Amino acid sequence: MCGIIGYTGSENVKDVLLDALELLEYRGYDSAGIAVKDETSHVTNVYKCAGRVSDLRAICDSKKILSACGIGHTRWATHGGVTDQNAHPHQQGKVTLVHNGIIENYRELIADYDLQEILHSETDSEVVVHMMDYYYKKEKNLQKALERVITRIEGSYALCIVSTEHPDEVVVAKKASPLVIGRTEDASVAASDIPALLAYTKDVYFLDDLEMAVLKKDSITFYNKDGKEITKEMTTIPYDMEAAQKNGFDTYMLKEINEQPHVIQETLRGRIFEHSIVLDELKDVDFNKFNKVYYVACGTAYHAGLCGASILERATRLPVLTQVASEFRYNDPIIDEKTLCIFVSQSGETADTLAALKLANEKGCTTIAVTNVLGSTISREAQHTLYTCAGPEIAVASTKAYTTQLVLLTLIALYIADKRGDTVDTDLMEQLNNLPEYVSKLIDDEAIFENYAKTLKDKHDCYFIGRSLDYASVLEGALKLKEVSYVHADAYIAGELKHGPIALIEPGTVVIAVATQPHVAAKTISNIQETIARGAEVILFTVEGQEVSGVENIYYLPNINPLLQSVLVAIPLQLIAYHTACIKGCDVDKPRNLAKSVTVE
Ligand code: AGP
Repeated sequence: MCGIIGYTGSENVKDVLLDALELLEYRGYDSAGIAVKDETSHVTNVYKCAGRVSDLRAICDSKKILSACGIGHTRWATHGGVTDQNAHPHQQGKVTLVHNGIIENYRELIADYDLQEILHSETDSEVVVHMMDYYYKKEKNLQKALERVITRIEGSYALCIVSTEHPDEVVVAKKASPLVIGRTEDASVAASDIPALLAYTKDVYFLDDLEMAVLKKDSITFYNKDGKEITKEMTTIPYDMEAAQKNGFDTYMLKEINEQPHVIQETLRGRIFEHSIVLDELKDVDFNKFNKVYYVACGTAYHAGLCGASILERATRLPVLTQVASEFRYNDPIIDEKTLCIFVSQSGETADTLAALKLANEKGCTTIAVTNVLGSTISREAQHTLYTCAGPEIAVASTKAYTTQLVLLTLIALYIADKRGDTVDTDLMEQLNNLPEYVSKLIDDEAIFENYAKTLKDKHDCYFIGRSLDYASVLEGALKLKEVSYVHADAYIAGELKHGPIALIEPGTVVIAVATQPHVAAKTISNIQETIARGAEVILFTVEGQEVSGVENIYYLPNINPLLQSVLVAIPLQLIAYHTACIKGCDVDKPRNLAKSVTVE
């Protein structure tokens, strides 16, 4: 996830672009850059660097920049490390561009356009500027060149493009990445997100996928994918700057819950190709040499690890263990060069996970990091690193990072199974692609989950139960509820209830049960009856077609592959926690005593 901006108007574009990039910095903050048209020579000058927008501002402040047209970018790296060279804008010939998204077929394009020897960066985006240059030379028209480029590129993109030959023109296009366009009396501006536009206008246009627009100082012209001029309806944004940074949502947590269909899609992008999993980051690992696998993480990432471990163990029949990092590092684990250790961390900075990773490296294990932050310490310490594409997660309670971890860990499990010669579940592979749509439908049912949250309003305790993979889901559900709403929540393996926890059940106790795994669902449902008999108020999440009787609140999840149910059930459990916290007036984004990144032991 990156932030882009394009402006053409009357103001000094340097300030316009830098101010907008600061507002977009939450979308990515490892590098930043701008390209501005020199008013006299018409040359497009590029200023860019690895680092924050403030570093870029310092560079620009030392230059005399006079221009009223330009583009800017703040980067959240996905392809290629955090370097000046990989920072945007990218320039080739007369064309300069910024890109947000992932070009899935960039390798194929490098071959088709003979770019192997001439690329300056490791990014997928640079391929697009070379293609633009190629077609611009033929068409002599930026929009026409762009029209040809978008027929060839696959994946997600929002693009802002300038050319030295059209001094006050910015051409834009998008597919599966956001782009909003605004008009003021004397300027046209396009950006990844509304906050960057609000300083200028509340009147905006939303581009649909494969549409393009040509922005000039005094006009905007829209085109469909065939280059036919179209009209777009203007929308007036009904909220202010502060609300806009949360995309109109009241909190970052709710915004991030709602981003899940998109970020799951981004995490899957380019990873499944004709019934095989593409994880080039792991191509040098010999998976046949391992006799044991460890998943190591903390908190929510540990819960994702439990799911990943279970899927890997079933697929490979290798012994797989999952441990909390703070235990792993002090428990003298039996690990050596035949052990594969997978470390999961959203921030990539968690002290316990990092220490555990260093220990595994010292012991000669093969180490893989699954993280969300490019360039983070864990990503650098691990021998191999894969990134979730969740984008910056601001709320302390992890939501979108968790579901993208589940998705990436599933891909890793299938990849390892394939490389070891085990049979890979192709049905599971196909169903992964449907997850964004299912997640989106679950989010549409928010009102139902908000209603469930009302049950918890005055409760001190809540118990979560599940078996098998559902146990990991209820652990995560309980963690989410306690961390944001301060309701005491515990998760139990449903079969363990009768060995002690059932003593806690009394009339009015809320029990949230998850029964999505076909081989044990009926057993969990019997355990629910035992709690109902003792007066519990039960909320059950099970799958369509599962027989249940005597439970008042049942939510039926779509009957997809059981190994993917942890992604689905995460959504209602996040929304129950969120709404309970809201009803109780808690500070949802910054729960008491907690920090987003735990860099102390
Ligand atoms: C989850 O909502 C948390 N706030 C917390 O448990 C978190 O998952 C844990 O601290 C691990 O963080 P990491 O993924 O950045 O390593």
